[in-house]
Amino acid sequence: MTDAIQIERERGLLTMRVNRPEKKNALTRAMYSHLAEALQQADIDPEIIAVLITGSSECFTAGNDIADFLQQPPSNLDSPVFRFMLNLLECRKPVIAAVAGAAVGIGTTLLLHCDLVYVSRDARLRMPFVNLGLCPEFGSSLILPNLLGHAKAAELLLLGEGFSGEQAAAWGIATEALGSGEAALAKAREMALRFESLPPEAVRISKQLMKGPGREQLRKVIEEEGALFTQRLRSPEAIAALSGFINRH
Ligand code: COA
Repeated sequence: MTDAIQIERERGLLTMRVNRPEKKNALTRAMYSHLAEALQQADIDPEIIAVLITGSSECFTAGNDIADFLQQPPSNLDSPVFRFMLNLLECRKPVIAAVAGAAVGIGTTLLLHCDLVYVSRDARLRMPFVNLGLCPEFGSSLILPNLLGHAKAAELLLLGEGFSGEQAAAWGIATEALGSGEAALAKAREMALRFESLPPEAVRISKQLMKGPGREQLRKVIEEEGALFTQRLRSPEAIAALSGFINRH
């Protein structure tokens, strides 16, 4: 377990806070393992009614740790990042995200699998996979064109254009955009705690129904993306781009 993930319990709410400010909350293998474990525990713990995932009021996460990508790239579905994302996909309880500042790479992708997403208006979201010689991951190549149409999704996924929290809410990637990171977190907490007064079995079944119809297709796409992503990580294009970030100073 790593200190860079803080787990807090407040009544029926489990909060997973990413806390690695010196590296803009970039996620390492140890951090994914911790998140994966906490999500799995939350899913089976009858006392937990909802899970909140957040960063700080300055930064959600700068995505996968780029040094980790170069030194220990994920190679299969047992890798910590896959375990975390599969646990997120399978979580039967509501997962709520509170986002402020940068949400890059998987920091944006993971939002597509949360139930409620509260962002600060000036949050900066971006999926620069192609820019890094990589490709979309964890279903984003399916979900974003379905949500936005191919032409808008292409701007985000092929060009790696960034967008604001306000745009994310207007496009349906986020539930609501609020005036500050603190306001986004307060709203996310308030809405997460609402689940305490709702019948948990009805919530569980309803979430399952909402996720149900596309599940098989999503699984297939995630496998295909995963295989290509892990290949891309070892490609000369990706190694050059990732090394360029590490050696930029
Ligand atoms: N992996 C590893 N380290 C990262 C990182 C990442 N994804 N993102 C930021 N960092 C580190 C920087 O290297 C820097 O470390 P240093 O102080 O030891 O040099 C530190 O975090 C601060 O980052 P910096 O870029 O100076 O902060 P900023 O406020 O100017 O910009 C971001 C913040 C998030 C916009 C910028 O860091 C960024 O674009 N990061 C890369 C994100 C990315 O491409 N992620 C996708 C991975 S698929």
